Amino acid sequence: MPALNRRFLLRARPSGDFDPKIMERVVGPVPEPGPGQALVRNRYLSLDPTNRIWMSEGESYLPPVALGSVMRGIAYGEVVASNGAPYRIGTKVVGMLGWQDYALVSAADELPVTPLPAFLPVKPTDALGVLGGTGMTAYFGLLDIGKPRRGETVVVSAAAGAVGSIVGQIAKIYGARAVGIAGTREKRDWLVNELGFDAAICRRDPDWRAQLEAACPDGIDVDFENAGGEIMEAVMDLMNLHGRVVLCGMISQYGKADRSNLGPANFVNVLFKRLKIQGFIIIDYIPRFPLAQARMLWWLKRGRIKDRHTLLRGLDNAPAALTGLFRGENTGKLLVELDEPPG
Ligand SMILES: NC(=O)c1ccc[n+]([C@@H]2O[C@H](COP(=O)([O-])OP(=O)(O)OC[C@H]3O[C@@H](n4cnc5c(N)ncnc54)[C@H](OP(=O)(O)O)[C@@H]3O)[C@@H](O)[C@H]2O)c1
Repeated sequence: MPALNRRFLLRARPSGDFDPKIMERVVGPVPEPGPGQALVRNRYLSLDPTNRIWMSEGESYLPPVALGSVMRGIAYGEVVASNGAPYRIGTKVVGMLGWQDYALVSAADELPVTPLPAFLPVKPTDALGVLGGTGMTAYFGLLDIGKPRRGETVVVSAAAGAVGSIVGQIAKIYGARAVGIAGTREKRDWLVNELGFDAAICRRDPDWRAQLEAACPDGIDVDFENAGGEIMEAVMDLMNLHGRVVLCGMISQYGKADRSNLGPANFVNVLFKRLKIQGFIIIDYIPRFPLAQARMLWWLKRGRIKDRHTLLRGLDNAPAALTGLFRGENTGKLLVELDEPPG
């Protein structure tokens, strides 16, 4: 076992865009598991927009990461030592393992890791992506809340990202029209030509609003909202009567210090158009993951869902990777594959 463990500590709260300078890289000994604990060697780290939320002060759905402690992060790893923990050595696990090489886990943790069954060989990139939190977010958000019907129009923002790319493909499986909003023309073309979206637009085109309207000639029935801000406002203006707004994320707003004015200026559309709007956090759906994962695996094997990820190498690249996520540098799920720790 190598003697050293790299960790990224959160040293300051972000203000505005995420700045890697608020993270400190420290190197120390690999921790010893105490009674009931196991030691996990992290292999892949998931970078998520919610990392920015977890760094911030103020109320959200989990407590903020304490200053000076290791950055919270979802990762895939392998149990390498155990001191009476109910995880066998060699077991692959997914959970809140943090931005570090090694993590101590216990069955009593508030969010315990999920062991992956050895008989079901799942690629680590899938375990963190299409079969993990982001794929499940797409599945439950769209099907439980959006409830798309055949022929309806589903619009999804951040459409070429981890959640959005799966949302559009599930919408197609259910017979709906899928329209994506993405950050580049390359992503737009990938959504239509490779993933089978009916239309996609680039949010950086000056006429993106007109493009969106043209792409939705019958209006919008389901808004799968990942972006918030002006994108959400444009979509809400095109919603049909009795449409559904799945409030999954508002990435354009996470860097705003003033939380008093984050909602759409045309919120009154919810009233006039009799919309249903519901936010959700995927953690609440964890008990229902197995059936959804089985369906997703089925679709993957049959090519009905295509998955893509952006993989960077080296734990030291995690802060830069997160910066890139907010600049739209990823296509599909963004991950860092950990390299060998020093020592
Ligand atoms: N509710 C839940 O439980 C839950 C779970 C997972 C994720 N989410 C939310 O789902 C959304 C997507 O997350 P993800 O993990 O799939 O990330 P992702 O889409 O893979 O990556 C984020 C993408 O957001 C887009 N983006 C960045 N800044 C933006 C801005 N100012 N305006 C519009 N788009 C912007 C970029 O794509 P383009 O440049 O191509 O637009 C970027 O690639 C986020 O809002 C996230 O918070 C919610």
